[in-house]
Amino acid sequence: MFSAAPMPAGQAVSKSELYAELADQARGLLHDERDRIANAANFAALVYHALPDLNWAGFYFYDGNELVVGPFQGKPACVRIALGKGVCGTAAVSRQTQVVADVDVFPGHIPCDSASRSEVVVPLFDGERLIGVWDVDSPRLARFDDDDRIGMERLAAIFIDSVRAA
Ligand code: SME
Repeated sequence: MFSAAPMPAGQAVSKSELYAELADQARGLLHDERDRIANAANFAALVYHALPDLNWAGFYFYDGNELVVGPFQGKPACVRIALGKGVCGTAAVSRQTQVVADVDVFPGHIPCDSASRSEVVVPLFDGERLIGVWDVDSPRLARFDDDDRIGMERLAAIFIDSVRAA
């Protein structure tokens, strides 16, 4: 039975250790399954409950035209985001992870949950093919730094590998 057990109380764990542990858990959780919705749902639940100070964690998938919300944890979200719009559409078009310290100063940020203050969005590509984006929001300003960017990109790669076209 899979369990995303928290680290023992009182034991200081660095961010990179936390992401390494989370990556192991993600691999274990996804390795036996290739269904995109199933893996996206479990992946979002794993990350949302393992990392502190998050209010939304989930996927937008590219339908050939725009980004459409997929499995997530958090409050109901905007359903469709055009490429190039918001933090998600910017990540998809630029192919670069967007780390936004203050969503209120990101031009064109799309507010879904008014509690969100900072955000990280990782674009998901299978080679040249856009799959979608992995989006995580926090109610805390500047919640995400470069360690989070690296950690989230590694986690996203585990998800992509699990659903990659054969
Ligand atoms: N803030 C995102 C929209 C998605 S929600 O955060 C869940 C954006 O600007 O693209």
